Amino acid sequence: MARLIVVTRDGEEREVVGESGLSVMEVIREHGFDELLALCGGCCSCATCHVHVDPEFAAKLPPLSEDENDLLDSSADRDDRSRLSCQLPFGDAFDGMKVTIAEED
Ligand code: FES
Repeated sequence: MARLIVVTRDGEEREVVGESGLSVMEVIREHGFDELLALCGGCCSCATCHVHVDPEFAAKLPPLSEDENDLLDSSADRDDRSRLSCQLPFGDAFDGMKVTIAEED
């Protein structure tokens, strides 16, 4: 179990505890943040799980795949901290990581 800090589009910040082995998207959804739609269920084909990740943890994350990169390109809110949360593993190494839910496209 590790802590994840989620910032909503309204700027509300909430700390939740997530199970290791889930994806960041699954942890966010499990805690009722419905504004993160995750429409494709984690298949890396929708980009509705877009978040901005704390730069402090960027080096620990797996590299962007070509599919993830292409999908993020379709978002007007993309920046250098953008990731698809379904492609991010969660666990002890990410304890205290902060993610901000991206604007809806
Ligand atoms: S849930 Fe669809 S790309 Fe992540």
